[in-house]
Amino acid sequence: MLGNFSYYNPTKLYFGDESLNFLKDELKGYGPVVLLNYGSGSVKRNGIYDQVVAILKEAGKTIVENSGVMTNPTLEKLHEGVKIARENEVDLILALGGGSVCDYSKAVAASVYYEGDYWDKFWLKQENPAKDQRLLPVGCILTMAGTGSEMNAGTVITDAEHTFKVGHVFDNRLMPKFSILNPKFTMTVPENQMKAGIYDIMNHIMEQYFSDFDDNTSDYLSEGLMRSVIHSSRIAVKNPQDYEARSNIMWTATWALNTLIGLGKQQDWMVHMIGHSVGAWTHAPHGYALASVSMAYYRRAMQNGLSKFVRFAKNVWNIQSNGMTDEQIAEAGLQALKAWMLEIGLPLTISELGATDDMIAGITEGTICYPAGYLNLTKSDVTEILKESM
Ligand code: NZQ
Ligand code: ZN
Repeated sequence: MLGNFSYYNPTKLYFGDESLNFLKDELKGYGPVVLLNYGSGSVKRNGIYDQVVAILKEAGKTIVENSGVMTNPTLEKLHEGVKIARENEVDLILALGGGSVCDYSKAVAASVYYEGDYWDKFWLKQENPAKDQRLLPVGCILTMAGTGSEMNAGTVITDAEHTFKVGHVFDNRLMPKFSILNPKFTMTVPENQMKAGIYDIMNHIMEQYFSDFDDNTSDYLSEGLMRSVIHSSRIAVKNPQDYEARSNIMWTATWALNTLIGLGKQQDWMVHMIGHSVGAWTHAPHGYALASVSMAYYRRAMQNGLSKFVRFAKNVWNIQSNGMTDEQIAEAGLQALKAWMLEIGLPLTISELGATDDMIAGITEGTICYPAGYLNLTKSDVTEILKESM
């Protein structure tokens, strides 16, 4: 562990099938007006909305509803949420949904009391709100496992007009004040979204794991988390109603991206940069976009990060050396990753997501590049990766 860091995570978690019971007490800490953000209606169909609204009413809250937060939330929808929050002088934002609704709620929370162009400041310029800017508190009731948004300050927004998807990780002030994680709530997630979430978890861990060469406790934690998500994913894909597996997947998702396993690490995130652009062009679920470019990316990264890829093969995939060279062991690890992705039904190409040759220039253009992990990708490298991923 050679890096320097500070660690503070202010999000209070409630986990388990009785976790919604804690909402009532949490609400006591906030003023009367609650902005309830949710998506396209799944929470109404599965009954979670009714449960939450009943608790809010019992607590005497005024509920301001903002539905229709789409997957990969747009800038236009952000403007709408900011306007609603301003007009209603909201005291608390409650996100009821997956990563999109949680991300969106944090984005609104950051923007309501910023008088300038919040898109330009927070997302295009990647700045944080001034120390004295008022920020609204956010609570999350998570219905889908994957992004880790329930315990981080990430907010990914898509400018649909310019086909540009970009994330900003705010400072700790934008972390949810509390998050309620009930694995039962994830049972109605469509199968493709469950799989996308599973790969999102796996890739979050890989993005942090595949950087640096020092002996870092974070990497041991990452290996354990990867083994857990691989194990549980196999069970959940066969039986999505397996509570234990869904519960482990939900918990792994939180730890995969609540900043812990990135401590002391340079980190990578280039699969996410390319994946965001693929997502902006194809509208694919986030985890699918990541999966579709992963093999081409990691094959390149392996050339510079060989010893870490050998470790990945041995410690995550149980590859036995058996007289193989380091290159062969590392390659066997990547093949095991690919086999698992196929086994659980993930896309391995961008064409499966609807990408066509004429989109490659645009996807490349929308990919933010920086030196990361074991690579320093140029735009032409991104183009190559996309072509290899067709
Ligand atoms: O619209 P609703 O009705 O909510 O339906 C959603 C949506 O269609 C549905 N769903 C969620 N919970 C459900 C359910 N359907 C039935 N039953 C339930 N219990 O699933 C669909 C996908 O939901 P969404 O929230 O979009 O998925 P996810 O959690 O994967 O979030 C994706 C967004 O998070 C961003 C992504 O880029 C994307 O915009 N990310 C956020 C990160 C962060 N904050 O750190 C990191 C990630 O890398 C990621 O970039
Ligand atoms: Zn992700």
